[in-house]
Amino acid sequence: MRWICPPILVLVLVFSAMAEGDVFAGQQRFAICSNCHGQDAMGIPSIGTPRLAGQRPYYLKRQLQNFQAGIRGSDDRDEKGKMMRPMSLTLPDEQAIDDVVAYIASIQLAEKMAPDEPVN
Ligand code: HEC
Repeated sequence: MRWICPPILVLVLVFSAMAEGDVFAGQQRFAICSNCHGQDAMGIPSIGTPRLAGQRPYYLKRQLQNFQAGIRGSDDRDEKGKMMRPMSLTLPDEQAIDDVVAYIASIQLAEKMAPDEPVN
């Protein structure tokens, strides 16, 4: 039995390292993002940037990949998206995306958020 465990442990470690982002590395990458999305990733309504904190990691990752691929942010009518697309290109590879997404996911939301403006 004992000989089975070390290889399995190594595999588990390798796969978890591949699948998960590094929160610390992501925090450093987020420095540039915070200029537009805020230190706390809550978005800045006056410049129209969305809140990222609290969003599902798989969705954030897909949007970053869509920006990089030009699926978002490449049409002239997409004024806000065109602000974001060059920023997505500061993330050189999938690991960098995973890292920044892991950092965003680590941000604790305030228990109850005040609405920015009334719905009606
Ligand atoms: C120059 C300002 C600016 C910077 C810097 C910036 N963003 Fe953005 N980001 C935007 C704007 C504006 C949008 C909204 C685009 C839209 O309305 O389609 C956006 C949208 C996004 C979205 C999509 C959110 C959603 O709900 O679909 C993600 C994810 C995102 N940004 C992540 C990042 C990350 C990660 C960084 C740092 C690498 C970053 N942004 C840096 C301006 C910026």
